[in-house]
Amino acid sequence: MLTEIPELNTADGRVFAQRCGACHGKPFGSHGITHGVPDPRFRTIVEWQEELTRMESLMREKGLQPLTDHEREAITRYLHRHAKS
Ligand code: HEC
Repeated sequence: MLTEIPELNTADGRVFAQRCGACHGKPFGSHGITHGVPDPRFRTIVEWQEELTRMESLMREKGLQPLTDHEREAITRYLHRHAKS
């Protein structure tokens, strides 16, 4: 049974929670169970890379600040660490 999103409280996890949670809801629930931010374990890194590209164009569409190179790296690193193998 999957419960909490892993390691949101790390440098990379915080970038993920902040940038991806902007549209996907609150990253920190009262007991760690979140519905907002996507669970990194549900996709492989290849699937995540596609998803990330898709989300970046959504951000552009919605007029959100685009990801900086630093943010993209942090998010990719975070997803790499936790993606489905
Ligand atoms: C501009 C707002 C916005 C941001 C920021 C955003 N998303 Fe999304 N996301 C959406 C919307 C709207 C959908 C549903 C429509 C779609 O799938 O195209 C979605 C769908 C998804 C889905 C597929 C739905 C599912 O549950 O299977 C995933 C996975 C996802 N986003 C991950 C991310 C990740 C990872 C980030 C951070 C890099 C992110 N999103 C940032 C708006 C956003």
